This record gives sequence, structure tokens and C-alpha cells, in this order.
Amino acid sequence: MRVVETVADFRRACGAARRPLGLVPTMGGLHAGHLALVKRSKAECATTAATIFVNPAQFGPKEDFNTYPRNLWTDLDMFESEGVDLVFTPPVEEVYPTAFDTWVNVGKVSSRLEGEARPGHFRGVATVVTKLLAIARPDRAYFGQKDAQQCLVIKQLNDDLALGAVVVIVPTVREPDGLALSSRNVNLRPDERRAAPVLYRALCLAQKMQREGTNDAEAICRAMREEVGKERLAQVDYVSISDAATLEDLERVDRPALALLAVRIGKTRLIDNIAL
Ligand code: PAF
Repeated sequence: MRVVETVADFRRACGAARRPLGLVPTMGGLHAGHLALVKRSKAECATTAATIFVNPAQFGPKEDFNTYPRNLWTDLDMFESEGVDLVFTPPVEEVYPTAFDTWVNVGKVSSRLEGEARPGHFRGVATVVTKLLAIARPDRAYFGQKDAQQCLVIKQLNDDLALGAVVVIVPTVREPDGLALSSRNVNLRPDERRAAPVLYRALCLAQKMQREGTNDAEAICRAMREEVGKERLAQVDYVSISDAATLEDLERVDRPALALLAVRIGKTRLIDNIAL
């Protein structure tokens, strides 16, 4: 496995790679969810490149940039055991040199939910992902369904800016109790960790209600809020039933939809979603 730190080396290594080339962008703090992206890339591509970069531009001033899990050596070992061919681990100045002054703003699909709760977040995500796709020029790029809105934002920028990658969305990997794997789960104290599966319980309830014939989105959202409310340590940030393709708020579940929620457990903010 080759590890490179500069844009020039990463571009050169990707340019010389056997095609198809798969790209797995990450912020490190690796877990089985990231490894599922790598496994899918390995199954579909001749070369798999990954990136590890905690992107300061996608964190708000009061968010957890400084405490975001950073375990570079463990992460590199994990990528190596999975058979990743190339890893880009740039320092911040390599991605955002002093003169950097171009930002990618994706429209409607980035405006609600996480876009509302975390102003500037998707501008940061869209900018760094555009830059990584522009440097690597992969045939396929892999992202996890847990960050459903991020997936739609990335599909939109990839199409609009004609970056030419196939954006592949990989199903969420869960713990046995339903908690979606997330780098932030390591920040949960033991009692918070026990409380955290409440997100998945609320999503399963939404799915059950809809399967049993409830199409009223507000009724489903109310039931989800009540379910989360049963957990003393959990505080709802938002719950939503949204169109699966546009993330517009739905009144009735009369087309492919997602139930989405963001919940604070202590100081940790978790998001998750399920298809309806
Ligand atoms: O999902 C993530 O880990 C990040 O948002 C991404 C896509 C690597 C961009 O920094």
C-alpha cells in the first residue's frame, strides 16, 4: 500500500493506476462501515484509493473538529489489511493553501435538515469532495447511506460539474443492537452507548407504521419523536419524512421516501435514516 501526502503525488499515482479506479474518501476514525466501502470498491475496481483527511471546512466553529477521532496509524493498518492500494493523507495546507478561495455550494438538496442544522457543513463537504474527485479522477466513488443527504449532495455536484465518477452508495453497517456505525460512536459514554440504539428503534417504528398503512408523515414523525423521548439521555434535533431523491419534506408517503433523524446523546450528535 502506497501512502502519499501531496496533491501532485496523489494525482500522479491515480493517473498511473490500473482502471477502473475506485475512490473511498474518509475522515479516518475507521470502522466496519468504511471497510464495507473498501470491500465494494475492491469487488468492482482494479485499483482502490482511499483518502484520510479531517476536513476543517465542514465543521462549524462550535463543532467537534478538534476532538474528531484521529488514529492515522491504526487507520492505515486497517486499510492495508483490506488491500487498499493507495492512501492520500494530506496536511490541511495541501488541500487549503493560503491562497485557496473557491467554494462549491450545492443548491436545494443541501438546504434542509443537516444543511439547516449545520450551516456551512455541505459547502465544506462539497468543496473537499469536488477537489478529491478532480485530483483522483476515479471511475467510481464510494459513500455510505448513513449520511443520506451527503450522498445526494455528492451525486448532485458530480452530475452538475461533470466530474465523471459513478457515485456508489453502500448500505449502512449497524451494530447488533441497530446503532449505525459512526466514527463519533467512540465518544459515547457507556450509558450513552446503551441509549444510542433509540435512533434505530424510532426508524424501525416509522417503517412499521408505513408498512402497516400509515401514510401521514406528521403522524409518523410524532411517533418517532415519542419513541426517542422515551430515552432519558436522548434529545431530538430533527425528525423528517422526506422525498428519497430530493429530500423535500413530504406530507404523505406516496413515493419513495426516507425517514431521517438527528439526535443528541449527551454531547454527541448522531444521524441515521431508513428507506420507506
Ligand atoms: O463522510 C465523510 O467522512 C466526509 O464527509 C467526507 C465525504 C470524507 C468528506 O470530508
